[in-house]
Amino acid sequence: MSPVAVHLEDAVHRWLIAMLGLPESCAAATVTRAQMANFTALAAARHTLLARVGWNAERDGLFGAPPIPVVVSEQSHSTVGKALAMLGLGRARVTTVRSDAQGRVDAAALRQAVTGPAIVCLQAGNVNTGAFDDFTAVMPHLRRQDAWVHIDGAFGLWAAASPAYAHLMAGAAEADSWATDGHKILNVPYDCGLAFVRNAAALGAARPCPAPTSLLPRPVSRSGAPPMPHGEPGVSSCGWPCAIWATMAWPHWWKDFAG
Ligand SMILES: Cc1ncc(COP(=O)(O)O)c(C=O)c1O
Repeated sequence: MSPVAVHLEDAVHRWLIAMLGLPESCAAATVTRAQMANFTALAAARHTLLARVGWNAERDGLFGAPPIPVVVSEQSHSTVGKALAMLGLGRARVTTVRSDAQGRVDAAALRQAVTGPAIVCLQAGNVNTGAFDDFTAVMPHLRRQDAWVHIDGAFGLWAAASPAYAHLMAGAAEADSWATDGHKILNVPYDCGLAFVRNAAALGAARPCPAPTSLLPRPVSRSGAPPMPHGEPGVSSCGWPCAIWATMAWPHWWKDFAG
């Protein structure tokens, strides 16, 4: 990606982190879709949980690795299962917790299912009903268990930017990673998926391939966050973040979006 695109992407990530009320420590990766955003964030989760027990998944693979408990709701989007399958965590070996008729995870059952470090996948915006998991009911328990909490907010993460809907996101900023799509509520062209990870180092460490070698100096983002090829599974890019930048840089955009 060109140095200009790196700076535009960096600006977009900082704007979005502020707008969505995510922790300032976050790093972000612009990827194709929420599918890939779930994958990218869950790769950081896998890296972190295994690193805590002395295992380097990126170097040594998963053969002989200590098992990682994974907990999802029965109404998780299919792309979460697909991401877990691609990461070698297995779509079927996860613990699945029941949800209510609107697709919200049963908070009491979830608390019961998580009794130690685990990857826990929650949802902001069910694709069929729009329902949000009750983050405030589960986050304190999940923090105590040292779980990595990932929120799939393909549509719903944007609620945090709207005074009318921000209450649905209460407690969501306590999570460790979030996935969303610019090409949904933000209405920019396709291929503007976004992954956010609280611990920037985990996002960089989980990238499946090393940064390409180059004889030229690498562009560096002003915020110090890793530029895109470091955080996302791909290497080259056609500059997707420029579409988000062009939308958000419009003078009245912010006011109109948040209503
Ligand atoms: C909750 C949720 N997660 C993930 C996705 C997958 O999004 P994409 O098709 O952009 O990968 C969707 C799509 O509708 C969704 O609603």
